Amino acid sequence: ARITLRQLLDHAAERDYGVPAFNINNMEQGLAVMEAAAQVDAPVILQASRGARSYAGDLMLAHMIDALEALYPTIPLCLHQDHGNSEATCLTALQHGFTSVMMDGSLMADAKTPAPYAYNVDITRRVAEAAHWVGASVEGELGVLGSLETGQGEAEDGHGAEGVLSLDQLCTDPDQALDFVAATRVDALAIAMGTSHGAYKFSRQPDGDILAMDVVEAIHERLSNTHLVMHGSSSVPQELQDLFNAYGGRMPRTWGVPVDEIVRGIRFGVRKINIDTDCRLAMAVQFRKTATENPAEFDPRKFLKPAMDAMKALCRDRFEQFGAAGNA
Ligand code: G3H
Ligand code: 13P
Ligand code: NA
Ligand code: ZN
Repeated sequence: ARITLRQLLDHAAERDYGVPAFNINNMEQGLAVMEAAAQVDAPVILQASRGARSYAGDLMLAHMIDALEALYPTIPLCLHQDHGNSEATCLTALQHGFTSVMMDGSLMADAKTPAPYAYNVDITRRVAEAAHWVGASVEGELGVLGSLETGQGEAEDGHGAEGVLSLDQLCTDPDQALDFVAATRVDALAIAMGTSHGAYKFSRQPDGDILAMDVVEAIHERLSNTHLVMHGSSSVPQELQDLFNAYGGRMPRTWGVPVDEIVRGIRFGVRKINIDTDCRLAMAVQFRKTATENPAEFDPRKFLKPAMDAMKALCRDRFEQFGAAGNA
């Protein structure tokens, strides 16, 4: 059954668990998440980026979600727009059956330039008002994702935002967060604490200097009843990197967000944990494996089925690690 982000995260807060929000673009990824959720009895957030919507097409995506919902009628399912950059993106998502939208006003509509606070408040407040009229939820973002190692801010597409940012742009300020939630009435708030999108988050095992979980704690102390969202939450497991490279890939060594740190974040009120890169990597390892071990193979299903199974296993792990299992 389709539910809103607010309904799902209220339940998660009551029971102290986190919900992984998986990005999907196609049938295989949609099935992987739903099958994993059904196996462990977990509620689901499926999210589609602007890129996903243009890749699959809104009509295909909407009908696919209808089919997934019909296949798994007992699993609570929130369909969420990831990183909406304008009112148009958010409102057209609602027209296609999304029950939640992210209005990311931390960046300007070019999804590159850090936005002034007043711009962020204004556009997020207007989207929240419209979404609430039709019973949908809204996620806002305050602070710019990016590296505390380099000071390089990061655009939504994983490419660098303009210039080097200051620490107070890269780490969300608790007082400003309080003001932002009151002014916009968002249902969930994405915060910045040193994570970034994609595989290359940290050049070493992150510690408190470059992954500022104390920021999450400080925000939670200030806003104990706001649902917090962590973007850039892939763990980029070392064993997946090794397998990717063993099957002919060339991925430079990198570090993601340790699952333990996310679990700590859940204790500080993190309720939605965005994961895309880990799913991509789990699938890509299987593509490489099939291609390497059976160079004569050309049936796409022989590539896609193991990839779907690998993503399913990863999703099941995250449902269990974040405590969402058993909560459908
Ligand atoms: O925010 C980034 C997500 O990983 C979605 O990526 O825009 O390539 O679909 P995408
Ligand atoms: P990752 O790139 O770490 O998977 O983050 C995904 C994300 O934040 C989508 O909004
Ligand atoms: Na999002
Ligand atoms: Zn994100």
